[in-house]
Amino acid sequence: MTERSLVLIKPDGVERNLVGAILARIETKGYRIAELQRLSATRDILEQHYEEHQGKPFYEPLLEFMMSGPIVAAVIEGDRAIEGLRTMMGPSDPTTAPAGTIRGDLGRDWGEKVQKNLVHGSDSPESAEREIGIWFG
Ligand code: RTP
Ligand code: MG
Repeated sequence: MTERSLVLIKPDGVERNLVGAILARIETKGYRIAELQRLSATRDILEQHYEEHQGKPFYEPLLEFMMSGPIVAAVIEGDRAIEGLRTMMGPSDPTTAPAGTIRGDLGRDWGEKVQKNLVHGSDSPESAEREIGIWFG
């Protein structure tokens, strides 16, 4: 089933010049870039995007991190793209994310209050449609 996912390359990925490397992995896998935009996230956008995490200890550090530099936002399309992209990204913690995943190969812990883990990918079709609406209107 063809799906759309909202993928973000977070400020650490842009800062480290990994935009091309990350998008190349996604394209090489066979998914299609349907929309692509470099932008600076506003607090308003991030409050909507991370609604589910409001009140958690990492919430404020997460918003600060996501506002610390430019982001690349993309809509990625393909059959079972949501699950496929999450698998490619690996688990949230880059220290234990398996080698072969984006977070496992390109990420590490930097000793900060929030995990800087390079990428975001939608976790369900409902989240994807909600998130695409937030970032691409
Ligand atoms: P994402 O939403 O960014 O794709 O990542 P995820 O599903 O793997 O992780 P989630 O639980 O939704 O958390 C969102 C983001 O918050 C940061 N985080 N830091 N304890 C921590 O330091 C911590 N916990 C969460 C990460 O950047 C995570 O991706
Ligand atoms: Mg998440």
